[in-house]
Amino acid sequence: MSATSPSSTASSSRTPANPTTRTPPTPSEVFNDILSSAQPPPTYSQQTWNPSNPYFPHYHNQSMPTAATTPPEPLIPPTPALFTTPPILQDTLQTPSSKDQLSTAEICMKHLSNPSDPFPILSRREHIAFLEGGILGVQNGKLHQMMVVLDASRSWIIYWCLQGLASLGVDVGKYRERVISSLRPLQNESGGFGGGNGQVSHVTATYAAVLALAIVGRSDDEDGEEEALGIVDRKTMFRWLHEIKDWESGGFRVCVGGEEDVRGVYCALVILALLGLPPSGNLVKGTKEYLGRCQTYEGGFGATPNGDEAHGGYAFCTLAGLCTLGEPAVVLKKYLDMDRLVSWLSARQHAPEGGLSGRTNKLVDGCYATWVGGCWALVEAGINGPQDENEETVGEKRVVGSLWSREGLARYIMSCCQSPRGGLRDKPGKGADYYHSNYILLGLASTQNYFYYTPSPIPLSSPPPSSNHESADPPLPLTAPFLWRYSPRIPSNAPNVAEAIVEDMPAWPDDITEEDLLSGQEVESDRLKVHHPIFNIPFERVAEIEAWWKGKVGF
Ligand code: FPP
Ligand code: ZN
Repeated sequence: MSATSPSSTASSSRTPANPTTRTPPTPSEVFNDILSSAQPPPTYSQQTWNPSNPYFPHYHNQSMPTAATTPPEPLIPPTPALFTTPPILQDTLQTPSSKDQLSTAEICMKHLSNPSDPFPILSRREHIAFLEGGILGVQNGKLHQMMVVLDASRSWIIYWCLQGLASLGVDVGKYRERVISSLRPLQNESGGFGGGNGQVSHVTATYAAVLALAIVGRSDDEDGEEEALGIVDRKTMFRWLHEIKDWESGGFRVCVGGEEDVRGVYCALVILALLGLPPSGNLVKGTKEYLGRCQTYEGGFGATPNGDEAHGGYAFCTLAGLCTLGEPAVVLKKYLDMDRLVSWLSARQHAPEGGLSGRTNKLVDGCYATWVGGCWALVEAGINGPQDENEETVGEKRVVGSLWSREGLARYIMSCCQSPRGGLRDKPGKGADYYHSNYILLGLASTQNYFYYTPSPIPLSSPPPSSNHESADPPLPLTAPFLWRYSPRIPSNAPNVAEAIVEDMPAWPDDITEEDLLSGQEVESDRLKVHHPIFNIPFERVAEIEAWWKGKVGF
């Protein structure tokens, strides 16, 4: 799938955001540091750096062709003016929202234009230490007492930390038994998982539990043949999913008697797909139509079809939900207004911050790297149609290249979201947490990869293929999400255009071990382990899980 670049082992002039050889600075020290060293941003004409790939954090590792007469280039290119100058259009009417927006842009510009480190590297070791605190317990094996409010989110904490660690390259299989023993008691006899011990089954808690079990996978023991997902009672789960289905609207409630929204739908569909639940009549009847009705006049998606405000969280649930139910080029185009969607999604990316917001007139926040950034993979695959699975020719048949600024998001993440103490955060001034750490890392991985859908294998008995062909309701088990692939090479819109072409970025270096990650040795790659764009679990796990449920007969 990808080649290891020799540059991955070369030495670097980029510094970790948080070097561990000295006491980590406090957030206010970092802030004062930035303030005192801030200089007026360079104008476009002052900038000499004009590579075809501005998202080029490994520039220092490349041998740069310099003519004898030209002065040597700076080791790290300066931040482009787009990310260091105030927005061209500003609200003339001052409101609390316009003031918050301007002050957020100002603080982000200071971080983005830090002259001593315009593109900090990923503080991998510090983020690993932070997330391991969530899995193992920070003090005396326990989570901080502040986490008591998350008692109904136990499976979520486990998922966020496990997936965050997996993105960073940690082999999380070592937590398998611990994860199973924490999650098993949350499973109810009536089907599904509660968020905490003794709590009623909830579809989001169940989704997080299924993802966590999917991530830890199989045991290394000789007799450890069974997936951790094997602890799920698929039969009662199936029955419970029938109970939360709203047969009239096509949607799913979050729990028996609970509210109904696109979170319920997306979580239920992921559970169905990852557990490979067997054919059952019409459990997904009317669901695509339900999701289509959640699109609003803005082009984004509200929580329900009742005209709620469009929000990035619901956009991801809707798009990923539809993509569990069929080929993206068919389901997205059939049920959505794609032009309005692209318009609303594009408006979510802010300049100068580079980061993404969740809704109109709101601020950038790192977690939208997944909820909004993750939508782009699905939308681009919907527009481009199925692609050949050939590393040499992948993306050649595409209709569009990258429709968003991967560079902008990567800069926002690296400069604004890395907490000096480890872990990732919403924005400067906020503390790191497990939720933001995971979704920011997933979003960073999305900037580093091109995701595409491969042509569906057509069974001989099926009707002849046609680009608009869609069977009324997809039969269970759901197979479409298993036909996605990725490439670390991002097709560009045009050659030499200032858009990310990350093909020079090293793939995950095969020679990096977990000891390297955790020891004093700095891993000179910002590359993350790639995830599946619908499930948000390690990509490599998905085929193994498919093989696991395909090996089952019935439940
Ligand atoms: C607003 O928060 C947040 C929402 C309205 C919903 C967010 C939904 C998700 C994150 C999706 C959840 C997905 C699953 C799978 C359960 P806010 O007002 O604090 O933030 P904002 O100002 O950025 O809108
Ligand atoms: Zn957030």
